[in-house]
Amino acid sequence: MQQSINSQVTPTQPLSAQPLPTMTTEAAAAPVLRGDYSHMDADYVTDQDWGAYTAAEHDLWRQLYARQVAVTKRYAAPAFLTGLQRLRMPADQVPRFDEASEKLHALTSWVIVPVPGLIPEDAFFLHLAKRRFPVTVWLRRPDEIDYLVEPDVFHDFFGHVPLLTQPIFADYLQEYGRKGQEAIALGTTKLLTRLFWYMVEFGLIRGAAGIKAYGAGMLSSATETAYSVDSDQPHRIKFDLARVMRTDYRIDTFQQSYFVIDDFAELFTAMQQPFAPIYANVQGLPLIPATEVIESDQVLQVGRQHAA
Ligand SMILES: [Fe+2]
Repeated sequence: MQQSINSQVTPTQPLSAQPLPTMTTEAAAAPVLRGDYSHMDADYVTDQDWGAYTAAEHDLWRQLYARQVAVTKRYAAPAFLTGLQRLRMPADQVPRFDEASEKLHALTSWVIVPVPGLIPEDAFFLHLAKRRFPVTVWLRRPDEIDYLVEPDVFHDFFGHVPLLTQPIFADYLQEYGRKGQEAIALGTTKLLTRLFWYMVEFGLIRGAAGIKAYGAGMLSSATETAYSVDSDQPHRIKFDLARVMRTDYRIDTFQQSYFVIDDFAELFTAMQQPFAPIYANVQGLPLIPATEVIESDQVLQVGRQHAA
């Protein structure tokens, strides 16, 4: 995320509400960060050092994978499930990034780059613009199987990489990276970040089988996937770019509003327009709390919000 990581990460933060894999440059040097930042290049790329994962870590991956595959079979968007198959993601060990990159590159010309953990937003945007997805190399501890402070390899790989096998989503994310560099120049990264939060980490999509989850935040969570699709608590609102940019969110609980697309082309098309006029308009409007719906919303379900 674009705010200081210290303001975002708390020891009780649930996995489903973890921060995005970005941070401020200032925070990069903060001792709070997990991960080894001593062996990386100027782009924050390090080695995966796959041989260093322990048998216990591979076993923890197996547990996480088995649990989430069961959840995603029921609740995930077909595109995500297809992506899992295309990647042939290993069920019983931490994936080798070089092997996955080879498969991914053949499909959409994206590759995975290993990073020590959270990286600064400018480096993150630049990687995306060059079709490189940063994936954290370390895996959570066994006591963090349900809750995690920072994104780990399971969140980044299991949650994000499958959709990168989908050409139009892959193109959308590259364009997001390009827009990120523009947003830094314009001072509007907060607005753009809400698009990542709601439409990459916590996005829903509706199709023939009804509403399904495709966001990495919920799909790497043991419990938010079902909540996002089935619960009567959150609002489910039709995607609107400017509306999303105006919407506040919480990182310490399940989302109170989810935005729903009909297909990934909708996201890509929205991303193709010039953002400067949209930023100028949105900056003059009040922030919308995640608990609220507004008159212009196409609300698919009004949430009961009891859990908020
Ligand atoms: Fe993420």
